[in-house]
Amino acid sequence: MAKKAKASARKKAAPKKRAATDYLADIGEWMVPGVHLRTLAEKKGMFAGAASSYGPIQEDVQFRETLAREYNMFAVANEMKCLRVHPERGCYDFTQSDEMVAFARAHDMQVHGHVLLWHISQPAWWTQLPATREGLMDALSQHIHTVAGHFHGKLYAWDVVNESLEGDGTLSPTLWYRRIGPDYCDHAFRWAHEVDPDVKLFYNDFAAESKCPKADGMYKLVRGMVDRGVPIHGVGIQAHVSVENAPPPDELAANIERYDKLGLEVQITELTVSVDPDNGTKEERLSKQAQVYYDITRVGVEAKNCTAVITWGLSDKHNWERDGERDDYVGTLPWDQRYRQKPACYAMKRAFMEG
Ligand code: XIL
Repeated sequence: MAKKAKASARKKAAPKKRAATDYLADIGEWMVPGVHLRTLAEKKGMFAGAASSYGPIQEDVQFRETLAREYNMFAVANEMKCLRVHPERGCYDFTQSDEMVAFARAHDMQVHGHVLLWHISQPAWWTQLPATREGLMDALSQHIHTVAGHFHGKLYAWDVVNESLEGDGTLSPTLWYRRIGPDYCDHAFRWAHEVDPDVKLFYNDFAAESKCPKADGMYKLVRGMVDRGVPIHGVGIQAHVSVENAPPPDELAANIERYDKLGLEVQITELTVSVDPDNGTKEERLSKQAQVYYDITRVGVEAKNCTAVITWGLSDKHNWERDGERDDYVGTLPWDQRYRQKPACYAMKRAFMEG
């Protein structure tokens, strides 16, 4: 599927604040068995995506089946990170990531690759390199050329740089920043583009959904790259959010729209919605969580440059953010631990239908 074939007729205005809905009592077409997220997304020229690491796909039949049935985009959660594909300098291992890409292709899912450069997934060998700009440029260029080259032609998008910004919107003092300088992001994108000119190159970050210094810092970083002619094609808004501190839909919509003016695509790349366990009954929490899933998905559907809504996982059974074992636990993802659709899942479907 090409860039969201969004009708120019699509409404551009940010959605108005809707009255709170009781997502538990809500019955509608989105609940009809056989109505899958991917079909609804496709109708809007979009992707409904989920991220996974290797384990659940390998070991859990229900996980695998749900992923293939419901989603048309797959994000590789860990297996393309430097720690996994390039643990020792010059020693690459693509065994698991290749299997995952093959799985996605076999089920007609596009792949969102994650990630070429992320300081958190940085094996120790990086710090043992010669402490020169050239030494680090050379290693980074080799890493990106090898990894992006390996997947040449197989991915829809790459997160080229992940989470390089501080809360105040300035670049973090990572190894690359300190030794190469603030232009390290430009180089990373150029090297990726050299080796795979067709894959879409994204900058991806968290806590930059709504109005805040970090969202402005991200916009400034990306606009600078566009101005300098750096090959950047998209922005990933992670959206690890909470019910209590959810991004106001109009602010999220305005944020996505300003990237459209730069000619860039946006994807919601890592959506999860946590809910304070002490904030109401389990039913109330499920309903509030669904509202946030609805709002974010609907903003994405209505934004003409947003091409995907991707959740970071799909079922609370394999949930990176799982905390606690309470019986009334409400995990952050759209499917529960037994692969039943939560109100959040129906809310996403409804948003794809109504947006
Ligand atoms: C997380 C994975 O989900 C975990 O399994 C892993 O242990 C740590 O990384 N933002 C990102 C992702 O961009 O790469 C992170 O993934 C979650 C936060």
